[in-house]
Amino acid sequence: MSKRIDINNLNVYYGEFLAVEDVSLSIEPKSITAFIGPSGCGKSTFLRTLNRMHEVIPGARVEGEVLIDGVNLYGDNVDPVTVRRHVGMVFQRPNPFPTMSIAENVLAGYRLNNKRVSRSDADDLVEESLRGANLWNEVKDRLDRPGSSLSGGQQQRLCIARAIAIKPDVLLMDEPCSALDPISTLAIEDLMAELKDQYTIVIVTHNMQQAARVSDRTAFFNIAGTGKPGKLIEMNETPVMFSTPSEKATEDYISGRFG
Ligand SMILES: Nc1ncnc2c1ncn2[C@@H]1O[C@H](COP(=O)(O)OP(=O)(O)O)[C@@H](O)[C@H]1O
Ligand SMILES: [Mg+2]
Repeated sequence: MSKRIDINNLNVYYGEFLAVEDVSLSIEPKSITAFIGPSGCGKSTFLRTLNRMHEVIPGARVEGEVLIDGVNLYGDNVDPVTVRRHVGMVFQRPNPFPTMSIAENVLAGYRLNNKRVSRSDADDLVEESLRGANLWNEVKDRLDRPGSSLSGGQQQRLCIARAIAIKPDVLLMDEPCSALDPISTLAIEDLMAELKDQYTIVIVTHNMQQAARVSDRTAFFNIAGTGKPGKLIEMNETPVMFSTPSEKATEDYISGRFG
């Protein structure tokens, strides 16, 4: 659990279009790394290369390396399905399976990877995962209700429970709070702070306060103009990035002068 990620000279394409150019950076285990930058600079695209979700889009491909504890995800004998079991993802809009029960939602990813699970093991995993996602106390009396019966913030924690049920090493989160109210947002931020003891967490956020509050390190991406590739401008400890960034573009962005 909780592994380091080293990205070396990654170029990310949609067909002929170079969306993200030549990114090299490292992500520490047991920490939260935030990706910030203006819309369209390739944050989501880059994030999806970290569990090989990018390549499910026809024509999409990468050049370069993504090493997880030294193993290249894009190596010859690596199965993308196995990669996604080790690198879980939570999306912008909570996406529980609406007609499936709360308990079955937690088990959904696990069932894809494991043919059989006993009833008592399943019950244990549901409780453990919902506790891990700070949702157990709110739903323990209605585990057979549909996932869609929960509030938006609860649905997002349900999606986090589903992601951690498969015991990944890394959790990727793409603007996980952008559809949530401020109270639910704080609940997710508190949860992330707890989860980082066990997981390597990478979060894309357009919310600068959120990046400053939750992350240990921040990477700023930028784009020179429409049709140009996104690039990593700089990355540093979060307090340094938000107080004394090295690059003027970073300072302009975090101070709200642009983006
Ligand atoms: N499925 C796709 N096919 C082609 N181009 C895409 C696709 N998804 C994103 N892009 C392009 O890649 C660039 C980066 O987009 P994205 O990663 O969504 O940026 P961000 O998450 O920073 O807003 C944009 O120019 C966008 O139009
Ligand atoms: Mg995005």
